[in-house]
Formats: sequence, structure tokens, C-alpha cells
Amino acid sequence: MASAVFGPATFCAVTGGSRGLGRSIAVLLAGRLGHGSRLVLTGRSLQGLQETKRQVKEKCRKELEVKLVTGDMEDSTAYHAHFCDIFADAKQGDFNSALMIHNAATTGDATKKASEHSDPQILTKYYDTNLTSVIALTSKFMKVFPSAAVRRTVVNITSDSAIYPLANHSLYCSGKAARNMFFKVMAEEDPDVRVLSYSPGALDTDMLQAVRSCGNKGVEDLINSIESSGMILNPADSAEHLLNLLQEDKFQSGDFLDICNFDYPCYPT
Ligand SMILES: NC(=O)c1ccc[n+]([C@@H]2O[C@H](COP(=O)([O-])OP(=O)(O)OC[C@H]3O[C@@H](n4cnc5c(N)ncnc54)[C@H](OP(=O)(O)O)[C@@H]3O)[C@@H](O)[C@H]2O)c1
Repeated sequence: MASAVFGPATFCAVTGGSRGLGRSIAVLLAGRLGHGSRLVLTGRSLQGLQETKRQVKEKCRKELEVKLVTGDMEDSTAYHAHFCDIFADAKQGDFNSALMIHNAATTGDATKKASEHSDPQILTKYYDTNLTSVIALTSKFMKVFPSAAVRRTVVNITSDSAIYPLANHSLYCSGKAARNMFFKVMAEEDPDVRVLSYSPGALDTDMLQAVRSCGNKGVEDLINSIESSGMILNPADSAEHLLNLLQEDKFQSGDFLDICNFDYPCYPT
């Protein structure tokens, strides 16, 4: 079903499209993007991106241009070239809608307490990957699509860890909290742009396994209890929920929407 946000002729970029939630978002977008759309997927692993593209093509009933762009968000010196590749040949006049989904993220060094992060180089790399790249890529997106003649949507994949502290994850929590506020400000400043911070719930992905094995007993117990109450979601279910929210288009720009706050069929009552 075509919608204002998904097409026809939508430009859509998804960071972290090589696995996990980003792959699920890409595959589900394949069924929704209208004629003349372009889907750009980024990540470090070309192999992962190629597998996502294979799944996208399998799902896609119509012609969809899928472009893979490899790059490491940890390396801020490469952003200029990387972002130019993401938006190569993209012009305001070629698309009716433009959608930027900031999905890529890392947990960082989760063996340390907040008070133990002493190495500024490691901190710079962490925030480059998880915050600076997102801000700079959003700016590039706005330069490529400068006017409201194109319907522009920016999605920040966030986490309830932006609000609730999680032991050993001070970098992750603070990065997500900063992103949430950045996008709230952007929503105020650019009312023509639809901005959504979406918290996808606990997902069965590599990241959740990394969080579980951080070495903190409390965190491990928390994940185990989420698991035993059936609250760990398949990333495809959460991706579908996100795309439905975008398609329904009822959110207020700048909102933080957590899947856990919806009457979601996967959750036990
Ligand atoms: N999993 C959960 O339970 C959960 C809960 C709440 C929120 N979230 C959020 O949901 C989003 C997706 O998480 P996920 O669970 O799908 O994570 P994941 O399985 O670990 O996948 C992370 C993605 O980010 C990319 N990425 C990581 N480091 C990168 C770098 N330096 N440069 C470029 N790309 C990089 C990875 O691609 P490459 O390895 O190919 O670079 C991969 O595609 C994240 O924003 C996460 O914070 C997840």
C-alpha cells in the first residue's frame, strides 16, 4: 500500500542495514516503497549488506533500486566521502519523499562503570559512532533535501535506556539520551520535517546478546527476566510496528514512542 511517507519515488536511507533491526526495516520497506524509490543501506559489512539486499529483492514485487554503501561511523574523517556516497545523485526534484532512518548503534565498552571511562580517544570514537555521525548525517540529509517540496522524515532509533539507567551502559544510555534531545530540538526548529524517536523494545539481535554478556549480574538477570516474560521481540515485528507508525502518521513530530507503551500483540497482558 503506497502512502505519503513511503512513495511513490521515495528516497530512503537506513544505517546499520547489514543485520538486526536495520535488516528487518529494509526488508519490510521493500514491500511498501512506491515506484521510482531508492533504498540505501549502510554498514561496515558488505557481506551483511548483500544478504539484506538479497532478502529485499526476494520480498520486492516491483523494481526497487537498492544501493549498498559500506563505511565505518567510528571514523569521522571519512564522513564527507561516506555521506556523499549515501546521497550520490540524489536530488530534490527526483523524489517526492525522503526518509532517513538512523538505526546503527553500538553499546561501547560495557565492562566499565560510568566512573571508569577515562580514555578520551575511546570516548570520542564512541560518540562519533553513536551521536556525531547521526547529527552530521542529518545535516547532509537536510542539505540534499532542503525544501518542504519533498516530504521529509527523520527517524531516530532510540532505546528506553535513554530514560532508564542501565548498569555498565553509561555510554549507550547517554548517547541515546543526547540523540533524543537533539531530535526534539530539530522538531521544534524544522516543523516541516517529521521527526520520530522510536524505541523498538528488547530485540533478539546481536546487540541484546552483547548487553546480556556485559559481565554485570544485575543486567544479565534483567535480560533473563525480560526473556522469561516473553518480552523479547522478533526484530521484524518491531520494524513492522515502526513502519505502521510512519504510515499512520499520527505522531507528533519530536515524539519519543516506545513499543512497550503500545497495546502490542506480542506482549503478554
Ligand atoms: N537489540 C535490542 O534489544 C535493542 C533495544 C533497544 C534499542 N535498540 C536499538 O535498535 C537499533 C538496532 O539495534 P540491533 O539490535 O539491530 O543492533 P545490532 O544487531 O548490533 O546491529 C547494529 C547495526 O549497526 C551497524 N554498525 C555498528 N557499528 C557500526 C559502525 N561503526 N559503523 C557503521 N555501522 C555500524 C552494524 O553494521 P556493521 O556491523 O555491518 O557495521 C549493524 O547493522 C540500535 O539503534 C539499538 O540501539 C536495540
